[in-house]
Amino acid sequence: MTTLLIRNARLVNEGQIRAGDLLIRDGRIDKIGSSICGAADEEIDADGDWLLPGMIDDQVHFREPGLTHKGSIASESAAAVAGGITSFMDMPNTRPPTLSLAALQEKKAIAAGSAHANYAFHFGAANDNLAAVAALDPCAVAGIKVFMGASTGNLLVDDPAVLERLFACAPTLLIAHCEDTPSITVNEEKWRKTHGDAVPLSAHPLIRDAEACYRSSSLAVALARQHRTRLHVLHLSTARELALFEDRPLAEKHITAEVCVHHLLFDDADYARLGSHLKCNPAVKTRADRDALRQALAGNRLDVIGTDHAPHTLAEKAAGYFQAPAGLPLAQDALPALMELVHDGCIDLPTLVAKTSHRVADLFRIAERGYLREGYWADLVLLGPRPPAAAPAPILSRCGWSPFAGRRWRSEVRSTIVSGQLAWHRGQLHAACRGQALAFLR
Ligand code: DOR
Repeated sequence: MTTLLIRNARLVNEGQIRAGDLLIRDGRIDKIGSSICGAADEEIDADGDWLLPGMIDDQVHFREPGLTHKGSIASESAAAVAGGITSFMDMPNTRPPTLSLAALQEKKAIAAGSAHANYAFHFGAANDNLAAVAALDPCAVAGIKVFMGASTGNLLVDDPAVLERLFACAPTLLIAHCEDTPSITVNEEKWRKTHGDAVPLSAHPLIRDAEACYRSSSLAVALARQHRTRLHVLHLSTARELALFEDRPLAEKHITAEVCVHHLLFDDADYARLGSHLKCNPAVKTRADRDALRQALAGNRLDVIGTDHAPHTLAEKAAGYFQAPAGLPLAQDALPALMELVHDGCIDLPTLVAKTSHRVADLFRIAERGYLREGYWADLVLLGPRPPAAAPAPILSRCGWSPFAGRRWRSEVRSTIVSGQLAWHRGQLHAACRGQALAFLR
């Protein structure tokens, strides 16, 4: 039996912030109180720092197997715990893609041996694997990912008959990347005519434009309404799409939405500075889109915040507009970056915690995580003010770069605790920490 006592914290949970202590015993939250008496095997004096349930990131690309020159489950989950993420759900566009039970099992085995955070995997839908999708055990996967727009990897589902059947047969959450590929192709050709291969990166949000997003996400929503599918639309990037989603509590709806860190923190003025380092799908759009997404965080149209952590090497990113792959490494900056929205008064801290932890656990029906509750697994983050003179932490993501280089966050992750184990503490990775498989109550 091991115990870890966190004293003098400000606990952020379920809409409230309260001073108190939290005792962990054998991986779980044993006790929460204003002052817990007695000794523990180990103690952390939080000295007034915030203690929150760790972020549950519903969208990451950790690249293993097959693309480990970009990242691995070990390297990217190390970056994740440094950024306050205690659980992750990994995407199927690996090599091989996660389109079969065998591929799913391989990923789970890798994660069991090497993930520093708790883990689950999304199963991929393709034009030719509907039988495997329909036969899935809903508790064996986080969700079923459908690329309704082509992105990194070749998982586009573009056959309307397959889409209809998929929405009708999905045995658990269908999670969708929505961008309309035909209209993107038309835009690409327009730009190619005038610029050849030398299309500027600033054209990315005009090629993968708001119309392409709206067409595809409105189709997804229409199909989900028709078939009563449990649909979760990923990474909304435009103001216009917000109207497709209901501003109602999660329990009252079957269509939900995610927004990502980069669509909240960047806008199209940043292409001039970052070039291909900001290229991602869907594209980062205008300041007005960014501001509308920020404003929507106060309500229920945007249910959760993810990172869409998607590392590519600097060499890959150095190619021209058409060749540079889309995606940014974001996990290590996750909570400090999102805390900027709190410091700027866009949202309050309990709302941020709701979108990064509580609602994610509710939405995916994750057992015993996502809240500070006695008996739940101890997935925790201590967050405090970042000392202005603190040196930047080394980048743990294998790709070795960050789109946030040079940004000085006002908060830092002091400690991350995964299933009761210290995973990140005082700027150091505790490499022995191993995450657990997420359990789903479905
Ligand atoms: O920007 C992106 N990168 N969007 C995606 O949909 C895929 C991801 C990746 O895997 O690189």
